[in-house]
Amino acid sequence: MLKLDEKKIRKGRPIGLPYQGSKKKISKKIIEIIKQNFGTDKPIYDIFGGGGAITAECILNGLEVHYNDLDKDITNAFERVISQDRKWIKTLIVSREEFFEIKDKENKTTDEFLKLLVNSFGNNKRGYLYSEEISDLKYNLAKEIIENHDVFNGYKQTETYKKAVERPKKPDQIGRLQQFERLQQLQQFRQIEKPNYMKVTNKSYQDFSKVSNAILYLDPPYEQTDQGSYINSFDSQEFYNWAFEMDKTNIVIISSHSISDERFEAVYSFDKAHSKFRSGTRNDKCEKLFMVKNS
Ligand SMILES: C[S@@+](CC[C@H](N)C(=O)[O-])C[C@H]1O[C@@H](n2cnc3c(N)ncnc32)[C@H](O)[C@@H]1O
Repeated sequence: MLKLDEKKIRKGRPIGLPYQGSKKKISKKIIEIIKQNFGTDKPIYDIFGGGGAITAECILNGLEVHYNDLDKDITNAFERVISQDRKWIKTLIVSREEFFEIKDKENKTTDEFLKLLVNSFGNNKRGYLYSEEISDLKYNLAKEIIENHDVFNGYKQTETYKKAVERPKKPDQIGRLQQFERLQQLQQFRQIEKPNYMKVTNKSYQDFSKVSNAILYLDPPYEQTDQGSYINSFDSQEFYNWAFEMDKTNIVIISSHSISDERFEAVYSFDKAHSKFRSGTRNDKCEKLFMVKNS
C-alpha cells in the first residue's frame, strides 16, 4: 500500500475543468501520494489528462508535468481558460436555443466547445442543463447574476442570488464558471520564468512507449462503462499490456475502480470518492490507484 500523510495535502480548493470522469475530488490527494511515495524529481505524464485536474495540481505543486489527451478539444479548452481573463468567462453562458445551434455545427471553436461543456447536463455536451420548461428562467437568472454582479466575489449577498437560491437553487452554470475562475490561478505560473511549466500534446497513449524514468499517471476510460462515446473503442486489455511493459522503466500508476488483469493490484483506496453511476454496478465501488504487483 502507498502511504499518505493527510496533513501535508495542499490547502485550498482543487482545480480543473468540469468534465465527465474528472479526478478533481481526489486530485490533491493523488499528487500528495505521488510526492510522498516517489519524490518530486521525476516528470509526471498525465497521459489521459481530460479536464486537467491532475495536471493543474502538478503545476500548483511545482512538479514538471506533461498534459496529454487524445481529444484536442479538451486540452485546447484547458489552455484557453488559462489564457483568458475573468470577463471572458462570463461570455460562456448560453440559452437553450444557442446551445442546440452550437451542437449542430460541424466545426466548433474552442469557445463553442466550452459553451457546450458549461451549459450541458452532467457536462456531457449533448443535452441542455435544464428542461424546456425551466430553461428560460434559469438562463435569465444566470445572465442577471453575471451581468449585474461580480460573479466571483460576494454575489451571494445580492437579492438576485437569494431569489435564485429560493427557486430552489442557483443556476448550475455559475458554479461551473467559478471553477474556470479558479483554474485561471495557473496564469501566474505561465508568467514566471518557467517556459516549460507544462507540455501539452494530443497523442494516443502508445505514442509514449519510449518514455523512461518518469511517473506515468494513467486515468483511462473505465472498463465496461457508459461513460462516453469513446468507450466502446477503448481496448482495456491492450492498455494493460502496454502499462505492464512501461512499468519496467517507469513508475506506473493507474486510476480505476477495478482492474480485471491480475498483474495489477490496488495500492490505495479513496473511500469517499464514489462515482455518480447507478448503484449496484461495479462502478459504484470506490476509486483506487493500481500498480503492477511487486513493482
Ligand atoms: C477518465 S477520463 C480522464 C479524466 C481526467 N483525469 C480528469 O481529471 O479530468 C479519460 C480520458 O482519456 C482520453 N482518451 C481515450 N482514449 C485515449 C487514448 N488512446 N490515448 C489518450 N487519451 C485517451 C479521453 O479523451 C478522456 O479524456
